Amino acid sequence: MDQYIIHGGSTLRGEVEISGAKNAAVAIIPAALLVQGVCRIENIPQISDTDTLLTILTQLGARVSYLNKSTIEIDCTDARYQDAPYDLMRKIRASYYLIGSMLGRFGSAKTTMPGGCNFGVRPIDQHIKGMRALGADVNVKNGFVYADARDGRLHGARIYLDKVSVGATMNIMIAAVLAEGRTIIENAAREPHIVDLANFLNSMGADVRGAGTDTIKINGVEELHGGTYTIIPDQIEAGTYMVAAAATGGEVLIRNIIPKHMEGISAKLRETGTFIEEYEEALLVRGPDTLRRINLKTMPYPGFPTDMQPQFGVLLCLANGTSVITEGIYDNRFKYVNELRKMGAEIQVDGRVAVIDGGRRLTGAPVHACDLRAGAAMVIAGMVASGVTEIDDIHFIERGYERFVQKLNALGADIQVRYDESEFVSPGAFSVS
Ligand code: UD1
Repeated sequence: MDQYIIHGGSTLRGEVEISGAKNAAVAIIPAALLVQGVCRIENIPQISDTDTLLTILTQLGARVSYLNKSTIEIDCTDARYQDAPYDLMRKIRASYYLIGSMLGRFGSAKTTMPGGCNFGVRPIDQHIKGMRALGADVNVKNGFVYADARDGRLHGARIYLDKVSVGATMNIMIAAVLAEGRTIIENAAREPHIVDLANFLNSMGADVRGAGTDTIKINGVEELHGGTYTIIPDQIEAGTYMVAAAATGGEVLIRNIIPKHMEGISAKLRETGTFIEEYEEALLVRGPDTLRRINLKTMPYPGFPTDMQPQFGVLLCLANGTSVITEGIYDNRFKYVNELRKMGAEIQVDGRVAVIDGGRRLTGAPVHACDLRAGAAMVIAGMVASGVTEIDDIHFIERGYERFVQKLNALGADIQVRYDESEFVSPGAFSVS
């Protein structure tokens, strides 16, 4: 199994460039299936989740080419309906967007139930509710999702989401763009990547209004045309480097970001005593001599993001005093706590609440990356711990962080990758070096 070997005790210093947003890219790539023509997409992150989705699109007949390491062209003009490749679909969560894009383009979709990080039960009932409201018959049988537009094309509808769901909001938007008539999504999620998906769709000829508010209106159009679109910077990648800078007591200039998207994360970091200076497209982050305890609760945007919760969990192990983290989105997102305990952390978990007895010195240990963000948190823990930390299951981390080790080492970290030769698979058909 591939591993990261981290020699702890580094102080991060320098500049880091943030890549395109994973959670925008993983919706925009499937949405390209709706477009007749060439979509040129800039600022695509080179991560395994985007590679997987591009492979799925090529298997549906799309032509995909890289113009440079972060710009691709996708041409789905000749795509034809077929069952989506299940082995790939199962690997990632975002494969659920193929339900919306295949229904919109072909009027039918057969996909697996999505994979992805395990934070407890992750139903897709709101996605299904939305597709049904748009006029699709949807059935889940033997781990597969079967969806068929009753009369070959979806029809606009008013859909109230019972839960604020990023995935359901984006999936319904994708499905509704080519539907006949107007769709209104109420109680929609408001994350920056939802606005980004709407901007992408509109730049290809769609009519989506209100993204970024809790009511999104989509006037269906007959077809989408090709165009060029640039994906926003990744809020969570940026936040992860901010926490890494603060935790190691370093000073890092985080470039290519949208400061507005970082406000919740910056606010909580400032409460810990971390210094943050804001520029137009960058943030300077300087860790304090002593970190202060805080309480935080994860919530839908503009609240504090659940995808930053594990990284803050590590930071608060170092802060003086007792901190409380409440996970407001998922039932089981504290699995990483067991791994941190191996490094000397003192944390009590009761359901969705973790109480962290801070001020501990972490010590290196062999640990797992339980999922994508938990894995990033363990890397931060490894950098601040004394001694050596070995992290396995790093494929989770590589699903979402472009050149993570290279970027951290350029800031002064000491991380090596130990590849298990017996398991070597090529980094992906679409990677360019
Ligand atoms: C997406 C992101 C993930 C992020 C999360 C919250 C992708 C591929 N994943 O996941 O990185 O952590 O948003 O920002 O973009 N729910 C239901 N029924 C549904 C859908 C969701 O009950 O049909 C629940 C979930 O279990 C969860 C909450 O709603 O408790 C929010 O989930 P959602 O926003 O949909 O997250 P994901 O799309 O799973």
